[in-house]
Amino acid sequence: MTEFVTVARVADVAPGTGTTVVVGRREIALFNAGGKFYALDNTCPHQGGPLAEGWIEGTTVTCPWHAWCFRMTDGTMTLGDYASVETFDVLVEDGEVKVSRTPRPA
Ligand code: FES
Repeated sequence: MTEFVTVARVADVAPGTGTTVVVGRREIALFNAGGKFYALDNTCPHQGGPLAEGWIEGTTVTCPWHAWCFRMTDGTMTLGDYASVETFDVLVEDGEVKVSRTPRPA
């Protein structure tokens, strides 16, 4: 059974923004895209840029270092398929955002 960890309150992450949270030993980029939450590995697979600090447009995040773009929905790239980032299931309950301890299967 998937174990979820509370990482933030809904009110802490405004729509259209992201923040870095820690789940176990992993840094996760948590995004609020128009009221829906998504969680991705925070480390860009290109050269390690912090995806939580990227630009958000809809459900796409652009890495702040060299502008690789990833879909929050499944971690795939919007242009090309050089790499992808792991994604995590998110639950919102009682005003709290919870992220799965383990990534979704690839
Ligand atoms: S480190 Fe993310 S695009 Fe280069």
